[in-house]
Amino acid sequence: MSPCSSQGPRSFEPGTSASQGFSSVFLSRQSRKSTSHAEDKESTMSDSEGYRNPTEVQMSQLVLPCHTNQRGELSGGQLLKWIDTTACLSAERHAGCPCVTASMDDIYFEHTISVGQVVNIKAKVNRAFNSSMEVGIQVASEDLCSEKHWSVCKALATFVAQRDLSKVKLKQITPQTEEEKTEHGVAAERRRMRLVYADTIKDLLANCVIQDDLESRDCSHMVPAEKTRVESVELVLPPHANHQGNTFGGQIMAWMENVATIAASRLCHAHPTLKAIEMFQFRGPSQVGDRLVLKAIVNNAFKHSMEVGVSVEAYRQEAETHRRHINSAFMTFVVLDSNDQPQLLPWIQPQPGDGERRYREASARRKIRLDRQYIVSYKQAELALSVSWDPSNQVYLSYNNVSCLKMLVAKDNWVLSSEVNQVRLYTLEDDKYLSFHLEMLVHVDAAHAFLLLSDLRRRPEWDKHYRSVELVQQVDEDDAIYHVISPPLSGDPKPQDFVILASRRKPCDNGDPYVVALRSVMLPTHPETPEYRRGETLCSGFCFWRQGDQMTKVSYYNQATSSFLNYVTTNVAGLSSEFYNTFKACEQFLLSNRNDLAPSLQTL
Ligand code: COA
Ligand code: ADP
Repeated sequence: MSPCSSQGPRSFEPGTSASQGFSSVFLSRQSRKSTSHAEDKESTMSDSEGYRNPTEVQMSQLVLPCHTNQRGELSGGQLLKWIDTTACLSAERHAGCPCVTASMDDIYFEHTISVGQVVNIKAKVNRAFNSSMEVGIQVASEDLCSEKHWSVCKALATFVAQRDLSKVKLKQITPQTEEEKTEHGVAAERRRMRLVYADTIKDLLANCVIQDDLESRDCSHMVPAEKTRVESVELVLPPHANHQGNTFGGQIMAWMENVATIAASRLCHAHPTLKAIEMFQFRGPSQVGDRLVLKAIVNNAFKHSMEVGVSVEAYRQEAETHRRHINSAFMTFVVLDSNDQPQLLPWIQPQPGDGERRYREASARRKIRLDRQYIVSYKQAELALSVSWDPSNQVYLSYNNVSCLKMLVAKDNWVLSSEVNQVRLYTLEDDKYLSFHLEMLVHVDAAHAFLLLSDLRRRPEWDKHYRSVELVQQVDEDDAIYHVISPPLSGDPKPQDFVILASRRKPCDNGDPYVVALRSVMLPTHPETPEYRRGETLCSGFCFWRQGDQMTKVSYYNQATSSFLNYVTTNVAGLSSEFYNTFKACEQFLLSNRNDLAPSLQTL
């Protein structure tokens, strides 16, 4: 199996010319793309007969004037409250006990929602871990007069189950549909990213060099950030909390959005619209009787958007000096004109010290957010094939690498094309790609097979399409970048080379496979050279499922493109046995090496 190839029929893995496709997720009302009633049946919350996820909870709300801002649009805070409540009820349906919001991933609002429209919210548990669950939420709006529907946003929240404030062991979710299987698989990877989020952002901020022009700017045209500072207090009352007295996460988010909106309004002297919320975490609980002090300020204003930061501290009346920092969030606002086009914003003059630090960090966060939004996007076909590897995107590229493979694995329209010597070849066609996977049972331990095949340096031992492999960078324990040289394709005098990110993941729980995901990246230290033809792979890799003692189902997946079609179809039609021979060589390699237990295997 060659790492991949862009043109020829020889190798296992294809190249693509996938175009880079990042488009802003925020659309003003003017540019809304509405869907017809018929087309959008799926995105409406109306339930068709048949299967329904047992954890699914739906909420529909008519937007009344009391829910709206001065623009007659549903306020972000109210929407966050409804999102959190729906998600919490879904989590509690699965857990069978009270749950608290631990975190909420980035939310990008695609549309505003007007008074008189209906908001439809649907939430379901994607995956349960130990005591925590990932809940996926879809928000759509509906115009009752025109019967049109719009997707407003998608959100992912993590809830933690608590029974009498003690730890709960949740039952696992068994996904049924392809969509559920995909979400279930990818949720493990998202959790991994979430748990290191705070450290990742801290590292990125520390290492991000921001070129700002603060000194050269004309101060007379700048608004001092100090003018936007807001401080507000809230008393947590019983209606703000669940029956255990814990403040609802959505209520806190709504209070935060309120102070952030005031800060944003002080900069632009207009009515701003919430565009995005950065992933945030509820660091600790607050209860009925607590006072919450919310502080907000505009950290930075860009051309058409601004970042407002909010921090929340809780204290009891009897111990005012003992304040607990329970939350911080960063929200992006825009100011829309009467045609719903974003208006130019004034520059901000930060305060020396913390103000200047936050100003620079807001710029860095903006870059990180754009990278993340682009790379983490589900639209892998639109993601440039070889994305440049740099410190600001490496966590997200690893995520993308693993999640693309997991999504391919979860597809439910794989067709068995042939079976030779107990090696099964499956194919899958969609509008852009022909994918295939090979599968066999091998008498070897799953963890061992995983270790042997995750080290690409050993691949030349069984795959003649890998002539030599150099480890370029060990990114962390589970991610590494390799430079691979492959023999030339027929008719081409030049050998091929590939720069491949290999991301390996152990199972998150029983039933999960071991995964080794492979994709091309661009590394500044390894540019294309005249000596080699640069090949690329979009999505390929191995999965290992334990099938009893010392028996493993080994699968190799590859998402092929049209340029690769000939090679795949030649194999599928039985005109070439190269797939089988290579995979059989892989089996032989695993069997021959099954006894040389690496010390690191003990920890798997
Ligand atoms: N994002 C997602 N999950 C998180 C998380 C985060 N930022 N922090 C912790 N978790 C998960 C852990 O992965 C773990 O999941 P698992 O049991 O499935 O493996 C679970 O939460 C418990 O983690 P643990 O380390 O034992 O607990 P903790 O001391 O970090 O507490 C909370 C986590 C969420 C319970 C705690 O921070 C809290 O009470 N926060 C406030 C919650 C709240 O009141 N929300 C409403 C608004 S105030
Ligand atoms: P950081 O200062 O690193 O950004 P914090 O959690 O302390 O992180 O604060 C989060 C955000 O809350 C800040 O970026 C800022 O926008 C806002 N904030 C914090 N403290 C204040 C304050 N005293 N007054 C106004 N806004 C504040």
